[in-house]
Formats: sequence, C-alpha cells, structure tokens
Amino acid sequence: MWLKLPALLSLGLRWGLRAAPQRWQPPLSIPRRKLSAGMEEEAKRKAGYMAVDNHVQDNQTLGIGSGSTIVYAVDRIAKRVQEENLKLVCVPTSFQARQLILQHQLTLSDLDRHPELDVAIDGADEVDSDLNLIKGGGGCLTQEKIVAACAKEFIVVADYRKDSKSLGEKWKKGVPIEVIPMAYVPVTKAIAAKFGGAAELRMAVNKAGPVVTDNGNFILDWKFDNISDWKNVNIDIKMIPGVVETGLFIGMAERVYFGLEDGSVCFRDRCSH
Ligand code: A5P
Repeated sequence: MWLKLPALLSLGLRWGLRAAPQRWQPPLSIPRRKLSAGMEEEAKRKAGYMAVDNHVQDNQTLGIGSGSTIVYAVDRIAKRVQEENLKLVCVPTSFQARQLILQHQLTLSDLDRHPELDVAIDGADEVDSDLNLIKGGGGCLTQEKIVAACAKEFIVVADYRKDSKSLGEKWKKGVPIEVIPMAYVPVTKAIAAKFGGAAELRMAVNKAGPVVTDNGNFILDWKFDNISDWKNVNIDIKMIPGVVETGLFIGMAERVYFGLEDGSVCFRDRCSH
C-alpha cells in the first residue's frame, strides 16, 4: 500500500525521522527508580520461586504469608500444583493470603483443621544477621506469627533491600505492634517509658482514622533507639496489657532466601546456638 507524501511526513515526524541518523540510545525516559523497581520485583520473584522449589513437596500443609513477595511464591506453588499434580493444603496468614489461595485455586484450610503445618513461607520487612525479623509492614503480623509458630519449618523470602546486620539498619518505619484499640494510648506510653523511642498509631491511607487489622485491632509503629537484646525486649513488650503481638520474629526463621540485584539468589540459615 502506498502512502501519500503528507501521510509519510507525519509518520516520519512521529517516528523521529526528522533528525540526522543517530545510534540508538537506551530510553533515557525510563527513570532509574523504575529500573530499580523492576530489579526488586525480579529479586522477589526469584527468591519466592527458589523457596518453593526447595521446600514444597507433595502432600504437605503450607502456611501462606502476606505481602508482595509471597505473591510470587504462591504463583510458583500454583504452577507446580498444575504441572506435578501436588496435593497441598494452604493455611493463610491474612485476608490477602486467603484471597491469593482462592485466586490460584489452591486448597484453603485453617488451623482448626490443620494445626500442624509442614512449611510456612512468608516475607519480611527486615532480616538481621541472626535471622531475627521485623514483620508487619502490611499489618498482618499476628496471624503471620501464629501460622509460622505452627510450622515445622519457617522459610522467609525477601529481596536484597531487607538484608541487614542489625534490626533498624534498613527498615526505618519501626517495629509494628498490634494492640487492642482501647489500649493504644497506655501501650504507647508504656513502650516509650520502658524502652525509649516513640510508638505512633498507624493511620490509614484511603480511610479516615487508623489502620484496622484483620483482627479488628490497631497497629503502633515503634521507632526505637539503640536496642540490641531483641529477645527480651520482645518478651517485655508482649507483657504490656493491651499488646496482642509484636512484629519481632525472634529465632523463628530457619532459612531466608534473598533475591539479589545481579539476578542470583542466596540463602542464610539460622545458626543453632
Ligand atoms: C505483612 O504484614 C508483612 O509482615 C509482610 O510479610 C512483610 O511486610 C513483607 O512484605 P513485602 O513482601 O511486601 O515486602
């Protein structure tokens, strides 16, 4: 088909044929932020896939975590169920996890029917060198901790941004603490008095007022200073009346898979002290 001259000219203009021939340049219009977002997603995907390939087997009961990294692990579980006809039962850690299980047509269960799980897989907001975790950035810490505690093996999937020597080095939003709504002020004061720092009520984004968890509670985000004895701090916070659970997962994870910037995946195991 022949195009008339004006049509050709207009196409030429749209395709940038006005300029003298130049070597093609990478699209500068893609901001660095977007490139690194792509890398982070790829790192999450690879960590999720590897964890599933290494830890999921036929006839298992699985705990399914919450957040954005676990989405890739569930994709992989669903693919393997289809391809290998695996018989798996999945217990969710949140409303989001429940939806993920249903959307992928996996078998949904709960801790009433399956109180003992073979493996729980979940994300984390930060992982220290001893595999202690901060979790609860998505507000699901309580059910996540219950499900992880019911599993013989608790496996974490994360990208390279979560890997740190000590808690607080990378994750700056504080330790999430789920509280009974009527107790949020006394708990806030008690935490500041005992451990310093500041605990703030987490506010919702597209709703007026605070975030309400899947359990109908509030979340405090505790920005701490100079804490190293996480085991005892965790116990002490849990003893404050009104605290439901903390996002400190101390000595629970067996192994963490980190997707790295170069496209590889490494893992770290908990040392048995
Ligand atoms: C949910 O409350 C959290 O504990 C998540 O598991 C954690 O925030 C990791 O989420 P991403 O995979 O989205 O980083």
